[in-house]
Amino acid sequence: MSDKVILTGIKPTGMPHIGNYLGAYKSLIEMSNSHKTVAFIADLHALNSVHDAKTVKQHTYEIAAFILAMGLNMDNAILFRQSDVDAIYKLNTFLMNVTPKGLMNRAHSYKAMLEKNAASGDDPDNGVNMGLYTYPILMSADILLYNADIVPVGADQKQHVEFARDIAEYFNRMYGNVFRLPEPQIGVDAGLIPGLDGRKMSKSYDNTIPVFAPESELRKKIMRIVTDSKLPDEPKNPDESTIYLLYKHFANAAEIKNLRELFENGKIGYGDAKKILFEKINSYLDAPRKRYEYLMSHTDELDKILADGAARATAIANKTIERVRRAMLG
Ligand code: TRP
Repeated sequence: MSDKVILTGIKPTGMPHIGNYLGAYKSLIEMSNSHKTVAFIADLHALNSVHDAKTVKQHTYEIAAFILAMGLNMDNAILFRQSDVDAIYKLNTFLMNVTPKGLMNRAHSYKAMLEKNAASGDDPDNGVNMGLYTYPILMSADILLYNADIVPVGADQKQHVEFARDIAEYFNRMYGNVFRLPEPQIGVDAGLIPGLDGRKMSKSYDNTIPVFAPESELRKKIMRIVTDSKLPDEPKNPDESTIYLLYKHFANAAEIKNLRELFENGKIGYGDAKKILFEKINSYLDAPRKRYEYLMSHTDELDKILADGAARATAIANKTIERVRRAMLG
């Protein structure tokens, strides 16, 4: 058992897709077998874009059920709802006062909004609330509150983890050694996980495979993968095929080699390759899907797990707040 603390937050804005899973959550789940792990549903982070309580609550259950069903090791992990730990609101306020505004101006997500507004000729801050603008401070508070060493995230979140480290360094320089310095750990490059149309799998392209679709929907989606028009007996380049590129993430080495050879030697058509891919992904997801469905119809069990997690998270967080309070307020 390593003594490093692993931490990640998952924003409850809908069912994760396979690209999200491979990009961030798979390595978190694997590491939870050998590390103290802090995992939470970042419901406060959803509030800058989701303005409907029922939706936030529903998505929060989905994410909790998702991460449990995929095998987060609860012997080593705590799982909770971000908003259930009061210390987060406190640390957020404290960190506001050591965070340069210029750092927030550089955040990719904020800059993307500015660019979008410039392109449409709108006011630069159109649609930007302070939750969005200060998003990286709240995320830094998450990371620093629980003394995280390693933060597994998708590449899109790397900058935010670097900001958390920067903020911790500013703070430590001003007030002494209060915070541990976190490091991002990036999973499979999302650009390497193609969606149904061959472009990077992304919600914004509407080409995703959700982790927990019913089996029939999963089959339909996989059968819809876009291919070229090569015939079954023509040699095909596996590295240009979405089917093979997805298969690689779920199959073992011998299976991968086998499909590769079938492609290269013109021994398989796309339709049959899709069936093999479907069988593989489906068998990978079958047991977790059953557990997911069980949990979603027993949300009282989720409530218990989350309440227990919140109590344990609070105990850790309050110690951090004590250190920060003493350092900043005497
Ligand atoms: N911002 C992350 C995302 O959008 C979610 C998140 C919130 C997070 N707090 C975190 C991730 C702390 C890692 C650590 O995916």
